[in-house]
Amino acid sequence: MSNTSGDMPEPVLVDGLKQTSPMIDPFGRAVTYLRVSVTDRCDFRCVYCMSEHMTFLPKRDVLSLEELDRVCTAFIEKGVKKLRLTGGEPLVRKNIMSMIRSLSRHLDSGALEELTLTTNGSQLTRFADELYDCGVRRVNVSLDTRDADKFHEITRWGDLEKVDRGIEAARKAGLHVKINMVALKGVNSHEIDDMMKWCHDDGMDLTLIETMPLGEIDGDRTDQYLPLSVVRADLRERWTLEDIPYKTGGPARYMEVKETGGRIGFITPMTHNFCESCNRVRLTCTGTLYMCLGQDDAADLRAPMRASSGNGLLNQAIDEAIGRKPKGHDFIIDRTSKTPSMSRHMSVTGG
Ligand code: GTP
Ligand code: 5AD
Ligand code: SF4
Repeated sequence: MSNTSGDMPEPVLVDGLKQTSPMIDPFGRAVTYLRVSVTDRCDFRCVYCMSEHMTFLPKRDVLSLEELDRVCTAFIEKGVKKLRLTGGEPLVRKNIMSMIRSLSRHLDSGALEELTLTTNGSQLTRFADELYDCGVRRVNVSLDTRDADKFHEITRWGDLEKVDRGIEAARKAGLHVKINMVALKGVNSHEIDDMMKWCHDDGMDLTLIETMPLGEIDGDRTDQYLPLSVVRADLRERWTLEDIPYKTGGPARYMEVKETGGRIGFITPMTHNFCESCNRVRLTCTGTLYMCLGQDDAADLRAPMRASSGNGLLNQAIDEAIGRKPKGHDFIIDRTSKTPSMSRHMSVTGG
């Protein structure tokens, strides 16, 4: 049963913010996690994420920072506890820190439990201290290799040294850093041990991700797809992996590596569907709400928001959207399906 405005419980006031019990989707899942892509632009061109020549959205289609804040606040009023800013690269959006600063009021009030980012790390030297000051305590940094040449090959435009300096700045500022590594056959699969050691030596978690068929890219994903079940079996030849109940609210399942004392997470959208426990929806920078990363259905929140200064229409549009959140995705990567399962690129929703 979805929460429509008709059967919503009475809101209670937390430090001036109206709060209701969480939004529940048609499959009984509470939606408590909002991922917001604040820009579709990026200073990298990762081969599995974008083609080299991307057409980005015209600026007029993109929500202003004030509008993004307004939608985020509406979601927090509806019980969202975890807000993750993504991109593209969130830190290349002009004046993004002013929005993060403004959103931090919801951490102060206790309405929001976590405000965080997924970033490519390139801008962290500039922003790490300020992020910490705004109440951000954790960032996920996408890093697929420790080899500078390979890094340049994968990201096309990236510079590993700059990212390393960013990670260092983040850690110095007191932010916990988790490294996200998309496991790619024949590209970085032989580096997983080294990446894990590098992360664990510095007390960082590592999460491995299976590549998903999102958007037309220049290469062939079938060649790159590496099931993490294979990676895990291979790791077990050399390391003692123990299941642990550690959870971050995301889809990763974590294991502890006895020899290093560190954690390794596995995000397995292809081999193990975690949709049954999905707690999240995604907002794009144009105000489109995707109820699932792997489905086309979406709701426009920009028009109802711009139609009036009150949030009545916006709230109604959110409730309607949550009321049709689908059960899960239908990703397939195989030789017979040449076109991607989803036509939109990962950079539209930020994962
Ligand atoms: P934590 O808060 O650290 O757990 O982060 P997270 O895993 O929620 O966020 P992050 O941005 O690090 O996500 C890593 C990747 O997991 C995303 O970029 C996606 O590739 C994948 N992912 C996250 N949520 C979903 C989901 O709902 N469905 C699918 N298929 N993949 C997802
Ligand atoms: N499949 C899986 N993960 C991807 N990412 C980008 N494109 C893909 C894809 N096609 C990852 C990035 C980053 C996160 C936002 O999504 O590496 O960690
Ligand atoms: Fe940019 Fe992230 Fe996509 Fe790489 S994966 S091109 S860093 S948005």
